[in-house]
Amino acid sequence: KIYYDADADLSHIQDKTIVFIGFGNQGAAQAQNLRDSGIPNEKIVVANREDHYAEDAKAKGFQVVNDFGKAAEVADVLFLLIPDQVQPRVFNGKIAPSLKQNAVIVVASGYNVFYKLLRIAPTNDVVMVAPRMIGSSVRSLYQKGRGFPCFVSTEQNGSGKASEIALALCRAIGATKSGAIESSVREETAMDLFAEQGLWPNIIALFREAFSVLKEAGCSDEALCYEMWMSKEPAEIFEKAADDGFILQLKHHSSVSQYGQLSGALAIDGTEIRNHFKDILYNRVLNGKFCEEFSKIEEALEKEGEGNPLNQLYTRSEACELAQAEKRVRHRLASQR
Ligand code: NAI
Repeated sequence: KIYYDADADLSHIQDKTIVFIGFGNQGAAQAQNLRDSGIPNEKIVVANREDHYAEDAKAKGFQVVNDFGKAAEVADVLFLLIPDQVQPRVFNGKIAPSLKQNAVIVVASGYNVFYKLLRIAPTNDVVMVAPRMIGSSVRSLYQKGRGFPCFVSTEQNGSGKASEIALALCRAIGATKSGAIESSVREETAMDLFAEQGLWPNIIALFREAFSVLKEAGCSDEALCYEMWMSKEPAEIFEKAADDGFILQLKHHSSVSQYGQLSGALAIDGTEIRNHFKDILYNRVLNGKFCEEFSKIEEALEKEGEGNPLNQLYTRSEACELAQAEKRVRHRLASQR
C-alpha cells in the first residue's frame, strides 16, 4: 500500500513535543522539513552530544540540548537518528530510563528494532519512517516541493494511534508527497542487509576479477579504468534502468552489445548464485548471525588506524589489482594536470 498526503493528518502531531536524537544526515534534513511543514519550532528539540552537528542545529535556529535523558523526559515523539551501531548504547543507557510510557519512537532503519537491540517498553509506540534517500536529497527534494521514496511501518502500537502518527510524521517530513510505501522492519532489514552482503559484494568481486582477467590479456590500466567505471557509463546504465526498465534500457546500446548482454545473461545458470544468495539471506541476515558478529566489532569502529576493523578491510581490499591500478591512473592523471 502507498500512502499520499490525503491519507495523513498533521493534527496527530501538531501539539506534540518532537525530539530529534541526532542532527546528522537524516536528523538535519527531517527536522528542517518538519519545521517547514508547520510544526512550531518551540515544539522541536534537538538532542545532540557537543560536536559540530550540535553547532549546526543551533545555527539553524533549533533548541539544542546535550543531555539525552532530559530530552527523553519531554519527548512525545522521539526520532532516533544517530548511527545504527550507536543506537542501542545511547537508547538503552540514556534514553529508555527517562522516556514517557506513551512516547512514540521513530526509527529510520529497521535494524535495531528487527534484531530487538533496543529495550522498549510495551506501552510505547514504535514506528519506522525510513527515507530511501540520503539526507541532503530528503531536504532538497522537500524544498523543491517534491517527495522522496520512503518506507513506513507500525511495529508496536501502545497508544492505538501509532499508524496515524507515523503517517502524519511521513507527511511532515515530505514523504507522502510522492507516496510512502507500507513496509516492515523485517522487510527493510532483509533488503538492506541482503543488498549490502549479497548483491554488492558479488558486484565488487565481478569487477575485481574482470579487471584482472583483462589486465592479464594485455589491456592497459587507463583503458580498463575508463572502460569499466571511470567514464561513469555504469552510473548512466542504472539511471536509464530506473527510467526505462531494467532490461529495456539495453535498447540504448548497440546491437552487438544488446545481443551479447541478453544472450550472455540467459546462458548463465543462476542456481549456484541463487543458493549463495539464499545462504546469505537466511543464514546470515535473517537468523541474526551478521548482527551478532557486527555487535562484537561495533565499539572498535571508533578507533583510529588499523585497530579499526573497517580500516583493516580497506587495507586488504585496496591490495587487489584493480585498486592498485586505479591508484596509479589517478596519480598519473593528477601529475599531468
Ligand atoms: P549520521 O552518521 O549522519 O549521524 C550523525 C549524528 O549522530 C550526529 O548528530 C552525531 O552527533 C550523532 N552521533 C554519532 N556518534 C554518536 C555517539 N557515539 N553518541 C551520540 N551521538 C552520536 O547518521 P545518519 O546517516 O543520519 O543515520 C541515522 C539513521 O538514519 C540510521 O538509522 C540510518 O540507518 C538511517 N538512514 C540513513 C540514511 C542516510 O542517508 N545516511 C538513509 C536512510 C536511513
